[in-house]
Amino acid sequence: MRKKLFVKTYGCQMNVYDSERMSEMLAAVGYEATPTADDADLVVLNTCHIREKAAEKVYSEVGRLRALKARRPDMLIAVAGCVAQAEAGEVVRRAPAVDIVVGPQAYHRLPEMLARAERARGGGIIDVDFRPEAKFDELPAPGRPAGPSAFLTIQEGCDKFCTFCVVPYTRGAEYSRPAAAVVAEAKELVRRGAREIVLLGQNVNAWRGEGADGRDWTLARLIRALAEIEGVERLRYTTSHPRDMTEDLIEAHGSVPALMPFLHLPVQAGSDRVLERMNRKHRASDYRRIVDRLRAARPDIALASDFIVGFPGESERDFEQTLGLVRDVGYAQAYSFKFSARPGTPAAADPLQVPEAARGERLARLQELLNGQQQAFNRGCVGKRLPVLFERPGKRDGQLVGRSPYMQAVHAEAGAAGIGDLAEVEILAAGPNSLSGGSLAI
Ligand code: SAH
Ligand code: SF4
Ligand code: F3S
Repeated sequence: MRKKLFVKTYGCQMNVYDSERMSEMLAAVGYEATPTADDADLVVLNTCHIREKAAEKVYSEVGRLRALKARRPDMLIAVAGCVAQAEAGEVVRRAPAVDIVVGPQAYHRLPEMLARAERARGGGIIDVDFRPEAKFDELPAPGRPAGPSAFLTIQEGCDKFCTFCVVPYTRGAEYSRPAAAVVAEAKELVRRGAREIVLLGQNVNAWRGEGADGRDWTLARLIRALAEIEGVERLRYTTSHPRDMTEDLIEAHGSVPALMPFLHLPVQAGSDRVLERMNRKHRASDYRRIVDRLRAARPDIALASDFIVGFPGESERDFEQTLGLVRDVGYAQAYSFKFSARPGTPAAADPLQVPEAARGERLARLQELLNGQQQAFNRGCVGKRLPVLFERPGKRDGQLVGRSPYMQAVHAEAGAAGIGDLAEVEILAAGPNSLSGGSLAI
């Protein structure tokens, strides 16, 4: 009999990709997906350690699962992802119901760990080994149908050591997958139904690799090779660092039609003093110049970003510089966070912590500005015709939901169109988070 698997994913798109790969791998050893933990034989929590709130969720989730496990002692609980990597020992100590702790670079060994856990029953088996190349080599080829938009991890890890960030510790050193492996996986995704490929990496634009011609390829060169694959209609990449926004990558935005005119380029802060303390290794003016060059290469490009407010030492004046940068650049979308002191990072030990009240107040001001920009951007799309890649059924009968080139969700009456179709939609209305279009005739 097939066993049942429930995977819950927290955090970034790389975890979404990893969860898909874990599910595929576990399908090969007899596990089929179930939509809830209630009847699962194995629950995998694929966790995120980026902010305190994200990390603490794991412990409350394991608390809930413990009740289930009391009724069904054969159920196994695995904690995967960045919390597993960062605090494996603490997971086992604080959550003794957990059978397996597996880091983001070790999950290809889950089947053997499961076999061991079934024999051992209790005790917590830990594997947090760091060898990304082994992981990608040993994972089976993707097997299940892909959606119209598919994630493809091409780079993992980070050598940048921003002073607030846990990623260099949870994901290890920067590693790029070889170009040939990326191209082969992209072809496989297209064969299984993908029309859009989203290249993923913690520092995706730091990707480097040996290309088919024996030369050292950059991300821009890789994008050109992927755009040539028959059936690849759209390409995106995320998340980028301003330091690795090279001339050829900027130029690719102007010359590769499949590369979508939307870029998530985190800046974190608009004050040079704060950027320096964050160890971002660029100034606000460098970022502004990159934005200008991107807009010169691709005038309709829309930008997204990440911001941290209340970083240690941030004054009211520093914060106003962030607001000023946001006003000048103009974003289609953005994520903003209060600084969260993470154990082991330099910023956590900084004596100049900003009081919680000021962090909250600054976040509210920044979000008001960003939300206004997002709404204005969405409203600006009304009356335009935008190409939409349909990804899923809508709430109402006959409705489909897809994405515009700018990542906005677009709801439309499907007509003859189906999931996986790319169609022009006339935008009739804009909400804060999505657009609605007219009916489609294709
Ligand atoms: N690799 C990406 C971001 C990874 S984390 C990059 O370099 O841009 C995603 C976002 O979480 C970051 O961009 C940052 O805005 C936020 N973040 C990371 N650490 C944080 C912390 N300690 N407190 C608050 N926000 C944080
Ligand atoms: Fe974290 Fe900075 Fe690396 Fe991004 S570049 S993952 S924020 S250390
Ligand atoms: Fe979170 Fe790890 Fe991604 S800490 S943001 S899941 S790389």
